[in-house]
Amino acid sequence: MNTIKQLEWRYATKKFDANKTLSKAKLEILTQAFNLTATSFGLQTIKLVVIEDKEIREPLVKASYNQKQVLDASHLLVICIQDNVVDADVNSYYDNIKETRKTPDDILKPFREDLIKMMATKSVQERQQWSTNQAYISLGNLMTVCAIEGIDACPMEGFVPAKFDEILKLEEKGLKSVLLLPVGYRAEDDMFSEFKKVRKPIEEAVITL
Ligand SMILES: Cc1cc2nc3c(=O)[nH]c(=O)nc-3n(C[C@H](O)[C@H](O)[C@H](O)COP(=O)(O)O)c2cc1C
Repeated sequence: MNTIKQLEWRYATKKFDANKTLSKAKLEILTQAFNLTATSFGLQTIKLVVIEDKEIREPLVKASYNQKQVLDASHLLVICIQDNVVDADVNSYYDNIKETRKTPDDILKPFREDLIKMMATKSVQERQQWSTNQAYISLGNLMTVCAIEGIDACPMEGFVPAKFDEILKLEEKGLKSVLLLPVGYRAEDDMFSEFKKVRKPIEEAVITL
């Protein structure tokens, strides 16, 4: 496996082969990779919605400025944030640590209390922005895993989140959509797959001190 070769192979896929579907095993790798994404404090205030059903996806095309990847890809991954972060989220996280690592309560207590206090200093909007930062990390992680696994994907901000939230009834789940990642396999005639990568010279992108 040549990491750079795979990162050069990947591109923001504009046209998916609508007849090719990801195997269960490949999909499982993506859901696991999402869940293994590092998040600030490990709090995981993001959620992945995986949509295979094309009927559900049909109305999402218009809400994505007619970007057909949303429908033609094998699966549409919608990366969401929680609409708020509350004390119960912090408590359930520390309960999980206690259960998973058998860490005594008295060791966890100050960390639990500090995180509750830190969250209390933020407004709801700041908590949403904080969660959105985590969503972008998960997008990067998923894109790299896709490249390694030979899965095509298109990172997308070009959609109307409020419309998605309405169509997918995300508000009922306490979620807000922030990013899309249609995944599957490129169409043979997607001309973008032939385009040369456009990047700054490495000396311009990286400063070595
Ligand atoms: C956060 C983010 C949002 C993007 N949104 C869209 C989008 O809505 N539609 C699209 O076709 N490409 C979108 N792109 C793809 C970029 O245009 C593309 O990654 C960039 O031009 C580099 O090309 P490459 O990924 O093919 O190497 C997005 C990329 C990122 C990282």
